[in-house]
Amino acid sequence: MTFAPDFLEDLAARHGTPFWLYDAAIIRKRIADIRFLTGTEGVQARFAMKACPATKILKEMHKAGIWIDAVSGNEVLRAMRAGHAAGHQPPAILFTSDVFRDNALPVILEHGILPNVGSPGMLRQLERAGYRGPVSLRVNPGFGHGHVNACDTGGPSSKHGIWFEDLAATAAVAEKAGLQVTMLHAHIGSGPQFQELHDNLSRLAGEFSELLPKFPHVQAISLGGGIPHNYRDAAVQVPLEPLRALFAGCRAQLSTAAGRSLRLEIEPGRYYVAPGCALVTRVADVKETRTNEKGRGAKFVMVDAGFVDLVRPAMYGSYHQIDVIGKEIADRPLEEVVVAGPLCESGDVFTRDEGELLRPRELPAPEAGDLLAIRDAGAYGYAMSSNYNSIGRAPQLWREEDGKVERISRRETLEDLLKSEE
Ligand code: LLP
Repeated sequence: MTFAPDFLEDLAARHGTPFWLYDAAIIRKRIADIRFLTGTEGVQARFAMKACPATKILKEMHKAGIWIDAVSGNEVLRAMRAGHAAGHQPPAILFTSDVFRDNALPVILEHGILPNVGSPGMLRQLERAGYRGPVSLRVNPGFGHGHVNACDTGGPSSKHGIWFEDLAATAAVAEKAGLQVTMLHAHIGSGPQFQELHDNLSRLAGEFSELLPKFPHVQAISLGGGIPHNYRDAAVQVPLEPLRALFAGCRAQLSTAAGRSLRLEIEPGRYYVAPGCALVTRVADVKETRTNEKGRGAKFVMVDAGFVDLVRPAMYGSYHQIDVIGKEIADRPLEEVVVAGPLCESGDVFTRDEGELLRPRELPAPEAGDLLAIRDAGAYGYAMSSNYNSIGRAPQLWREEDGKVERISRRETLEDLLKSEE
């Protein structure tokens, strides 16, 4: 995504700052990548909509024939409102969660949504609620990879899914309740390096192949999401050809193990949307602390976006490229600065890492009034924004391929924040 300063200034004048700016061309390119990966027979892609549940995005997915993985009753309803079909045949919306809360069970029952369950207790809850349809079992195969420990979704430290050694007992609970297991699923987080991703997915397919003879009704295997996006180097992304071949091979191997033709599913979230959005924020001021006996001083670039907008750096120490959009950038000296937001929290800093609260970054000396673009913010960006400090969520803008910009959600007002109080 390239940013002409005048273009962004014009948007800022019309919508205020901060704002989210999506780029249709980039998102469609990523959708096309996933369609390529799943373009062999019997391979189906879903979108893990938790990454970015905006209706606009959900409609793009629907147009491209991509199914949905939803994590709450409301995500299911949101997907349906965007045009995704409910029902089991085919199960175009999958419900994957560790706990049924709020309207989850009623929505599953009313709309015939395939539940992907992570514990024997969830099966009993389904049965008690009167559900009598097919189920998917989510497995924790005992291995996996997360970009940080908090995102590790396979192994003893992960709360997700049914520990693989308990799967047979859980399947017995399903059978007793008259619930047919039609799908087996694992989302293990597979690692940012292609070889590790390849090895983890192959190992997973191998383990499913061994389990399959015990599941005569299974029609599909899901290898989950976790296709990585490289936030540090846009030019180096996961190679698509070998991954497509891997998925085709896994599907063949699984079908052979089952003795019938199975569907193979993947359900990425991040990959579709991460590079397709920037959070654009205004520098309000630049100030300094000085080195003393307690530590090193730093230059703080104070911006109007905070972790209420983009929480990934504060929560995981995640890296996002930051571009300074201002006058005569090329002539400015590079300076090590900390980019920090407006919240009453010392951790409201965008330039962090896993270990350090402040990880100063070299940028062309930002000045008050400049715009900054915090890049690759499309996945788990707006989706994880909050109303902490009663600031209200920033608007989302969508740039079409013809250059026209449409606002897809407005800035939240005080009235929005107070609406649910009584
Ligand atoms: N399927 C399931 C069951 C999941 O739990 C997830 C993500 C995905 C698919 C999609 O994973 P992806 O392809 O996006 O890696 N908030 C964190 C990421 C949390 C991922 C949660 N589950 C972040 O900002 O990095």
